[in-house]
Amino acid sequence: MADFVSPGWHWFIAIVTVISLAACLWLIFANRAGKSTGGKVGVTGHKWDEDLEELNNPLPRWWFNLFLLTVFFGFVYLTLYPGLGSFAGVLGWSQTGQYEQEIAAANAAYDPLFERFAGSEIPALADDADALRAGERLFSTYCTTCHGSDARGAPGFPNLRDDAWLWGGDPETIKQTITNGRAGAMPAWEAALGEDGVRNVAAYVEKLAGREVDEEWAALGKEKFDMMCVACHQADGTGNPALGAPNLTDDAWLYGASTHTIRETIASGRNGVMPPHGEFLGEAKVHLLAAYVYSLSKDE
Ligand code: HEC
Ligand code: HEC
Repeated sequence: MADFVSPGWHWFIAIVTVISLAACLWLIFANRAGKSTGGKVGVTGHKWDEDLEELNNPLPRWWFNLFLLTVFFGFVYLTLYPGLGSFAGVLGWSQTGQYEQEIAAANAAYDPLFERFAGSEIPALADDADALRAGERLFSTYCTTCHGSDARGAPGFPNLRDDAWLWGGDPETIKQTITNGRAGAMPAWEAALGEDGVRNVAAYVEKLAGREVDEEWAALGKEKFDMMCVACHQADGTGNPALGAPNLTDDAWLYGASTHTIRETIASGRNGVMPPHGEFLGEAKVHLLAAYVYSLSKDE
């Protein structure tokens, strides 16, 4: 409710709600058929098959009372809970409040499970089956949406099981990545290089990765690469973890291995974002997750 762009909406919604409730009451009373007197029941005037008439019996009392009760419930509910424009309700209940309460309760119950591992070094935890089980559970909850349930990633979302790291694979760096997040910034080069230029540099990138390419294109591409790309990807194309610039000479491709994708990356740029998790998960969980991720890359 705090999202209303103007306080006028609060009044609009509150007034329409109250008028609707009042109108419901008016409707039921205004249309209420009177009690029949002397056994004579009124008719609505609808008639079928010559003598089949629709009678206008009063509503059963229980039904009528139930209707009043629902309207009364509406008023009580809107007094106690949020719902009437931006009025918060006299109980002060809110979704956010309830969520925070539940999270606090869950943290109180589960934190000791994670705190237990907080004192151990990450490499030691990476050999500790209990720690890895806890880390794996955390990973399935918080990380699989992007990195996949097997942690092998997807185009744009790095594979965490291999040896290729954008930002570095030592325990402290992994922990930094999870805590503070990362933002890769690969500029778009189409404007500077033109379509042929992109094709040529892409050919050179593929040559760096050990593929057979058109040598003429690659030679032209190398000239541009040495001017425009070495600042981040290094002269030999092996990348720079301080900038999250990937190694272009290996077989691991963040965005896909096809010539088409490589050209697209160079032409339009890429901006992969790993969101920060430190504040949200807390130190103990991040520590365990770092150990889990570290253990994955050691497996293979
Ligand atoms: C919203 C999607 C998203 C979620 C959720 C997410 N990640 Fe990431 N993660 C990314 C992206 C995208 C990158 C690559 C960033 C870049 O392009 O530089 C990344 C990068 C990483 C890296 C660095 C990999 C490298 O090669 O240096 C690690 C480690 C990592 N994530 C671990 C995790 C863990 C652990 C979690 C769960 C707590 C997690 N991520 C949750 C999207 C996500
Ligand atoms: C300012 C630093 C910077 C410069 C300059 C730069 N890149 Fe990048 N490049 C990056 C980063 C960072 C990424 C990873 C993007 C991400 O994480 O989303 C990247 C990604 C790539 C990829 C994708 C690799 C993969 O695994 O999918 C290719 C290909 C690439 N760059 C080629 C080039 C070429 C060719 C040039 C020169 C024309 C160039 N880059 C210039 C920083 C740079």
